[in-house]
Amino acid sequence: MLSDRFGRSIDYLRVSVTDRCDLRCTYCMPKDYKGYEDPPDWLTFDEIERVVAAFARLGTSRVRLTGGEPLTRRNLPQLASRLSSLDGVRDLSLSTNGTRLARHAEALAASGISRVNVSLDTLDRECMAGITGRDCLPSVLDGLQAAKAAGLAPIKINMVAMRGVNDAEIDAMAAFCIKEQFVLRLIEVMPMGETGRNTAYLNLAPVQQRLAEKFGLVPQALELGGGPARYWATADGSASIGFITPLSQHFCATCNRVRLAVDGTLYLCLGQEQQYPLAPLLRGGASDAELEQAIRAAIELKPEQHDFGRQPEKIVRFMSQTGG
Ligand code: GTP
Ligand code: 5AD
Ligand code: SF4
Repeated sequence: MLSDRFGRSIDYLRVSVTDRCDLRCTYCMPKDYKGYEDPPDWLTFDEIERVVAAFARLGTSRVRLTGGEPLTRRNLPQLASRLSSLDGVRDLSLSTNGTRLARHAEALAASGISRVNVSLDTLDRECMAGITGRDCLPSVLDGLQAAKAAGLAPIKINMVAMRGVNDAEIDAMAAFCIKEQFVLRLIEVMPMGETGRNTAYLNLAPVQQRLAEKFGLVPQALELGGGPARYWATADGSASIGFITPLSQHFCATCNRVRLAVDGTLYLCLGQEQQYPLAPLLRGGASDAELEQAIRAAIELKPEQHDFGRQPEKIVRFMSQTGG
């Protein structure tokens, strides 16, 4: 098992398969974002598989595919099949904006992806277009139903809560998710790049209290996926709502993850710059043992916690470069 300098076990690898996206959410990606070098410089499926296999040999059991928008990468289900077949990979999941989910849900389920997290910040079509830059609400709702029909479960909805933008819709979203059996997660916006910094932050601590009273929620001990969300459930246990609160109540002490970007850089923390380039090893003839050694060396660089609260200007990269 990989363990860092602070005694945390690292068993969750997030793999960004592209930094491109068909949307431009205001908090995430700038309108004129060009992205990394052209696709020929991106890690190939073979290279991604090699890195994930090395992590799995070192004890990583959870792998999440992210982007940009991962479904913009051609043949993604093929990569998913390869990763889900690797020894040691027990939880393969996907974070998506949902626009292409209707088309791919069945193939994803067949490839061994067990669960999906879908971004959805509002149920109001115009508000959605304002946030994402495209009239995409119908396609995302279709995607959610297709994911349900394909048996992907649980389906989690990621709602980035923004003061004055969608905060008035939190209750409607909670009611929708409870009805549809989706797990809503409310997320505090992080100051990643100028997009994240220029988004109106909403502290979710009072929202958590209010929703608990309104929907009769109680804190849930059950872990739902190994991520940073803290869950609350309805008294009968039939529905849960998660809160991802990196600023008001951070969760770095239990962090279990690192991120692979599509250029082969391993990022050790979302809110810090420590990184380790793996492409030179992958393309320079390194052996599997050398690759594992490099991963261990990278984990040594993992910092104790993010600095979003004290140094909001610090991270210039956008969320889309590491997929959250
Ligand atoms: P589960 O495995 O389902 O728990 O997934 P997850 O919540 O870890 O992944 P997802 O891609 O759905 O991310 C939801 C939100 O959590 C996004 O806003 C991510 O940026 C944020 N997030 C995920 N991991 C971390 C982390 O290590 N640190 C911080 N600060 N935010 C994170
Ligand atoms: N702060 C918090 N969450 C963000 N996401 C994208 N940008 C930010 C940000 N600046 C979320 C998306 C997606 C998840 C992977 O990351 O809503 O659901
Ligand atoms: Fe694209 Fe997701 Fe970023 Fe929105 S949050 S711009 S959908 S990568």
